[in-house]
Amino acid sequence: MILVTGGCGFIGSAFVLEWLQGGHGPVVNLDLLTYAGHPGNLAAVAKDPNYHFVHGDIGNAALVAQLLATHRPRAIINFAAESHVDRSISGPMAFAQTNVVGTLSLLDATLAYWRTLPAPEQALFRFLHVSTDEVFGSLSAQAPAFTEQHRFEPNSPYSASKAASDHFVRSFQHTYGLPTLTTHCSNNYGPRQFPEKLIPLIIHNALRGKPLPVYGDGQQIRDWLFVNDHCSAIRAVLTGGQPGETYNVGGRSERANLDVVNTICRTLDELRPRAGGTPHAALITHVADRPGHDRRYAIDDSKIATQLGWQPAVGFDEGMRQTIQWYLDNAAWVESVTSGSYRQWVDQQYQGLAQPA
Ligand code: NAD
Ligand code: DAU
Repeated sequence: MILVTGGCGFIGSAFVLEWLQGGHGPVVNLDLLTYAGHPGNLAAVAKDPNYHFVHGDIGNAALVAQLLATHRPRAIINFAAESHVDRSISGPMAFAQTNVVGTLSLLDATLAYWRTLPAPEQALFRFLHVSTDEVFGSLSAQAPAFTEQHRFEPNSPYSASKAASDHFVRSFQHTYGLPTLTTHCSNNYGPRQFPEKLIPLIIHNALRGKPLPVYGDGQQIRDWLFVNDHCSAIRAVLTGGQPGETYNVGGRSERANLDVVNTICRTLDELRPRAGGTPHAALITHVADRPGHDRRYAIDDSKIATQLGWQPAVGFDEGMRQTIQWYLDNAAWVESVTSGSYRQWVDQQYQGLAQPA
């Protein structure tokens, strides 16, 4: 039995699906079902006797204590978070509450449970915290990629809240001996990503003939990783990672945002041409830049590659094509997640520019 938090979100759901389909054992999924959490993401396993869903908050200490005592997991994988940088800029408090206070509360309940375990089970137990490369701040064009030793320089309320939670995780290992692991991953993309993030937002708007908002000059660089490769990295760290260690995970696919958007446009021109044949790229619209926008992220993955033998399996072009095809094939999913609160967000963030019809 493992406990996954935030399993109804983008990455958590990919992880739970693969975990169950791979026969790795039973899963309890604790998810608050915020705007970003969708039980439908896990419809394929909803009736699996090895899948158990609990609707609740990682910050609810009594609920978590009861879950841990009942299910006695051998590991906890903490995906639950507020995850969108732009939302952290317009409303940072929710990020402190979930990412910092929520994670601390989860750690505290985990420690109390872990202390009740017999010594052999204590030794095997793992708390794996899913963090981000954004805690390292921004790189110049020529700077070497982030290693695990790079100092924390978080620039957004989101990355600051993730950095704070990482420090609490570290402290629980150092002070109490709780066997923790932390991963710092780059930008994920793939099926079931909520269309507030760049790639699904661009696909969503392009299919509706809406403007494609590119912040600033569009030359900001991200390192893109297909979501299932992030899941395989987490499994590798869970199995082979050393307690107290951190592991960087990346896609070896640095791309400027404008190049990513143009790739989506070209692929859609081929798979779903616009009426009249106008290229989708004609919809690209440069808009005001994100405040404090990080210029470049890049990951040095040599630690996880050499120590755990992990490397990404899906190249950027192949992953993008699969992702775009998934959105074309799953219009009903997109409809179900782009309800009233989504429209409100898009309207507020883009001031009508990208509002769906
Ligand atoms: P997401 O926003 O798609 O999903 C977050 C999930 O957490 C949702 O299901 C939501 O309902 C749940 N949740 C939120 N607050 C909760 C709470 N208090 N208690 C229980 N559940 C709660 O996020 P994602 O993109 O899948 O990211 C998952 C994790 O991976 C996050 O910790 C994020 O920081 C990290 N990460 C994401 C990326 C990326 O590119 N998306 C990259 C690196 C790391
Ligand atoms: O690096 C890992 C991080 O990647 C994760 O920790 C975060 O949870 C995840 O949201 C992601 O953060 P980003 O801010 O990099 O992702 P986002 O998809 O929001 O933006 C990607 C880039 O695209 C970024 O440079 C901002 C830009 N952008 C984004 C949006 C939504 C645009 O140009 N236009 C847009 O409309």
